[in-house]
Amino acid sequence: MARPLRIGLLGLGPVGMAVAKAIQDKDKVLERRIGAPLELRRVWTRTRGLPRSVDDSLLCYDVEEILSDPEIDLVVELLPGEHPAYEYVKRALLAGKHVVTGNKEVMAKHGPEILSLAAEKHVDISFEASVGGGIPVIGPFKLDLLANEIHRVRAIINGTTNFILTQMASHGSSFEDALAEAQALGYAEADPSKDVDGIDAMFKLTILGSLAFHMRVSPDDVYHEGISALAPADFRYARELGYAIKLLAIGEAEDGGVVLRVHPTLLRETEMLAKVDGVFNAVAVEGDLVGPILFYGRGAGGGPTSSAVVADIIDLAQRSLAGTAWVAPPAFEDTYSIRSMDDVRTGYYLRLLAYDRPGVFAQITRVLGEAEISIASVIQKENVVDGQPPVEYAEVVLMTHRTREATMQGAVRAIAALPSVFKIGSLIRVEE
Ligand code: HSE
Repeated sequence: MARPLRIGLLGLGPVGMAVAKAIQDKDKVLERRIGAPLELRRVWTRTRGLPRSVDDSLLCYDVEEILSDPEIDLVVELLPGEHPAYEYVKRALLAGKHVVTGNKEVMAKHGPEILSLAAEKHVDISFEASVGGGIPVIGPFKLDLLANEIHRVRAIINGTTNFILTQMASHGSSFEDALAEAQALGYAEADPSKDVDGIDAMFKLTILGSLAFHMRVSPDDVYHEGISALAPADFRYARELGYAIKLLAIGEAEDGGVVLRVHPTLLRETEMLAKVDGVFNAVAVEGDLVGPILFYGRGAGGGPTSSAVVADIIDLAQRSLAGTAWVAPPAFEDTYSIRSMDDVRTGYYLRLLAYDRPGVFAQITRVLGEAEISIASVIQKENVVDGQPPVEYAEVVLMTHRTREATMQGAVRAIAALPSVFKIGSLIRVEE
């Protein structure tokens, strides 16, 4: 029997605990699948005294006990945020240890550098858990979809926001109430900004975009908008028009350019992504050979995320035993350039409040006509009360045909400046 593969675990949050438990509880199964036992050698955590799923004798509070231990073969990094995770991942690779990480921020910001470093040191770094929790998405992009030119990726990759949007759609909740519920259930953090502002999805789309389009992508290349400006009225109108509202992460390749964007999106209720509710995630991919495919499942939580982390450990352990556990330097094909959000062409949903006077609608449609934006449908409701002191307005909802983002933004600025318009309620992109 081969010698045990020794693991050092960094981080003992819910995912770290689930990983430690799986390695210990499934030791016999893992040994059979790998052909050698796994040994959880040391677990580093910053917080003392919390209830643990690992024996006290394994815990350490000095990270050097893992990073400087020459007997540890593989470091599993499950820390929140960029620092100190980035530094520790680099230290582990420099020391010739394989790494498994679930850290989307580190991989999004430093992926190319880290992969090159791993290649230089003849070790490997795996990151299946960084996107979509338990859903296999990184593996398929790295292997099963390699024969394809990917045209488009559309994904729901943040469970917290998908839960909030589902509550707003099905119960008419305000954003604030739905967020409070997500926090009470432990889905949203006390500081929810990374989730609700679309930053978590931006990091994940950076990783998916790089894999799908074989290019270097930085988070700065990804346009992002969050969900906090959405109102219950938007969900009512969307339903009336036959749409759901989802926070989509979209990557599209066209004419040598790729646009990567995260924003609330109106999707036809009949689309499969429109039916992905609650904390579930889904990634829809379109490739030239495979056509459309959909990955669906739980994108967060100890159990699902540990499924991805432990699978990466098994794969690395098997390849380590076979002497093939090293990564080639990242090969970026540079087929595409990153396109600006201004050039995106999509439909729009525009909700605004206007004074209920003759000629108001004509003024709005004149602005759109002059910008050559074609209206697809209109809803007007009277007697919407807003403002302080409260005043009655007419609420107007317009759906446009596809137009260029920069053109639409210019028209919305002009509409907002009309004296008869009280305020713009929301502008949401529409995916047909
Ligand atoms: N905060 C993430 C989400 C889970 O809500 O989907 C971890 O990626």
